[in-house]
Amino acid sequence: MTEPSVLNLAYLEIGVSSLAAWRDYATGVLGVEVVDAEDALLLRYDGACWRIRLVETGEDDLRTAGFEVADDKTLKAIRARLEGQGVSVQDATDEAAAARNVARLVRCADPFGLSVELYVGDRAVDEPFHSPRDVSGFVTGDQGLGHMVLMVADRAKAEAFYMQGLGFLLSDHILLGPPGRQLTLTFLHCNPRHHTIALAPIPAPKRLNHIMLQVASLDDVGAGLDAAQAAGVRISSSLGKHSNDRMVSFYMETPSGFDIEYGFGGVEIDDAIWQTTTYDTTSLWGHKALPA
Ligand SMILES: [Fe+2]
Repeated sequence: MTEPSVLNLAYLEIGVSSLAAWRDYATGVLGVEVVDAEDALLLRYDGACWRIRLVETGEDDLRTAGFEVADDKTLKAIRARLEGQGVSVQDATDEAAAARNVARLVRCADPFGLSVELYVGDRAVDEPFHSPRDVSGFVTGDQGLGHMVLMVADRAKAEAFYMQGLGFLLSDHILLGPPGRQLTLTFLHCNPRHHTIALAPIPAPKRLNHIMLQVASLDDVGAGLDAAQAAGVRISSSLGKHSNDRMVSFYMETPSGFDIEYGFGGVEIDDAIWQTTTYDTTSLWGHKALPA
């Protein structure tokens, strides 16, 4: 890792139009627990208190991404590096930190206005996770909640913030589109998960393209596909295997319009031997876009 680096993507806050629609989708399709909070619905899928906080704002987009940092010294160093880039970083109040179930919290914004939170603390709770749809498990722990793909207006600015600022390392690139008019997708890691963030340099009205949740078995992916189809959820991309992280997954629409990728078996990166590559296709097979 570039030192210092964040440890993992630990939580997300998403503004949605309908908490009721998300409640059914989360339990029946994703197979995660929902916990009612005063003004939010919390999604749980491991030993953390929650991983995704849904608030009914009507945005149907990502509001906040929270990253775990090892300790106060590392937090201070990352903060100094961000401030050196001209990023304004604020201390959150003790109340705000407690609302995220963390010990210490600072806040800034990425170059496109996404609220980014960095924290120190342990968000684990004693209650074990029980999937309401018998998912055998979600791959999280040191690898964080999964991955997110952000639509960014400026690739260089995005890479500067997430790589030089937060300490992410390049995993690889995928070139999309015809020669001469290619877009470069950037895949970044901060722990063994192949990518925790991918950047798509496409100006778009929404920040979030998709979130990936990694389940513990191929059977979990198949059962998830069955559950999505039984619930009438639109499958936006068929079952397939990605070229770079070798994840076998499908994509489905959430009640907020963006996608969730539901996958199994992603590559884990060992920085001692990892070689960066550029691919010219996103998938080895499948992942066919399906009509709306
Ligand atoms: Fe993905």
